[in-house]
Amino acid sequence: MDFDNNDDECENNELCCRRKVNLDNGPYLNSKLGKGIIKEVVVNCLINDSVIPVASSEKVQQPSQPSTKAEKKKSIQKVSSDSSSTVSMEVKSKLFVEVVAPVESALNKVSVIGCGAVGMACVFSILTQNVSSEVAIFDLNADKLKGELMDLQHGSAFLKSAKISASSDDLKITANSRVIIITAGVRQKENESRLELLQRNVEILRSMVSKLVSYSPNAVLIVVSNPVDILTYVSWKLSGFPQNKVIGSGTNLDTSRFRFLISEKLNIAPESCHGWIIGEHGDSSVPVWSGVNVAGVTLKDVYPALGTDNDKENWKEVHKNVINSAYKIIQLKGYTSWAIGLSVADLSLAILRNSQKVHAVSTNVKGLHGIDDDVYLSLPCVLGENGIVKTIKQELNEEETKQLKISAKILAEHASQLKI
Ligand SMILES: NC(=O)c1ccc[n+]([C@@H]2O[C@H](COP(=O)([O-])OP(=O)(O)OC[C@H]3O[C@@H](n4cnc5c(N)ncnc54)[C@H](O)[C@@H]3O)[C@@H](O)[C@H]2O)c1
Repeated sequence: MDFDNNDDECENNELCCRRKVNLDNGPYLNSKLGKGIIKEVVVNCLINDSVIPVASSEKVQQPSQPSTKAEKKKSIQKVSSDSSSTVSMEVKSKLFVEVVAPVESALNKVSVIGCGAVGMACVFSILTQNVSSEVAIFDLNADKLKGELMDLQHGSAFLKSAKISASSDDLKITANSRVIIITAGVRQKENESRLELLQRNVEILRSMVSKLVSYSPNAVLIVVSNPVDILTYVSWKLSGFPQNKVIGSGTNLDTSRFRFLISEKLNIAPESCHGWIIGEHGDSSVPVWSGVNVAGVTLKDVYPALGTDNDKENWKEVHKNVINSAYKIIQLKGYTSWAIGLSVADLSLAILRNSQKVHAVSTNVKGLHGIDDDVYLSLPCVLGENGIVKTIKQELNEEETKQLKISAKILAEHASQLKI
């Protein structure tokens, strides 16, 4: 039995998929999984059969189904594409025998707040990489949102059973999300520092965070809007969530830039270059030169001057380029989008699949590495279904610890000036 030839049949038939998975258990299934061909089908089917594990302390709440017709109509004002007029009951009754009403949300629902360059790059990465089978988008700009929604929906025949919805006036569209990604905000302008964006973006969070968490009490929040570390701290305060459930995308992107730039210097793949950027997502970020390695060979052992002022090979330039990347890209194309979209999709995947993968994300670092302030900064963290599960005790050298503390002080100072 070949799944590849049965896409249409499979796509709309959960039981059929499930049965096939069971029948094909064994070498066939393993080889298909190995190639990544049917992983998504299995996951979709299991999701629809509600087998996705949920942290024991949290119960997934399915939305209550609107009971009357009037309730159904007013439940959520969705943005809809122009062609979405409904089919009459008469036609429906000729076409279907309704067994049971479909549940309203998938258990892997992701919501993205903000349909700007970053929000849409997150949505696109999540959909095309099958991170979630349901994405809701919220943005106040109704026309842009409708355009984005239509454009995406017209591509849905090329996606794997993804449901996409949007609203410009009701955050209830996000209800029952497992991950909520906040990208709404004012965009960083050319030469504008991330910290300068601060107060404008705090107000946006004040308008939405408490509503978002009330509609999705089981969600993990991923904050992307800049300055991301402070806005993650603000979101945590506003949400009332425990600290594990509010994450900033932090230096996950900087770390990816770091690995790419190292890979270019060494001429090997970025995935094989191991190194971390920690601290602030921005100008005071800290490159952990002491831990940069390829296959366990620490570069600093091979070349002790690595990342220092005496470094003739100028590795310091790699970190400078990490910091300046955003400014440079904004200068060239007006905004950054693809890398941050891919990075956030990866974080969402780690959460939804309970992967226990390590990512550099922004978390409350009080008490770690000698930091006394209540601040959010990036450190390597283990991610699972309930957000940040563990923080890695990285062995930093004296200089790295000093830089991290400077980063913390800068952020604590800014945070102290905020009206939350
Ligand atoms: N953390 C990172 O690594 C990283 C990387 C790139 C960009 N960013 C940040 O992400 C944010 C978004 O960037 P962008 O390029 O997409 O900006 P953008 O201007 O293209 O989009 C922002 C969107 O937010 C919407 N918005 C504003 N207020 C809103 C509200 N109250 N409710 C709902 N939607 C609202 C706007 O209508 C707009 O569509 C910025 O703060 C930017 O600095 C972060």
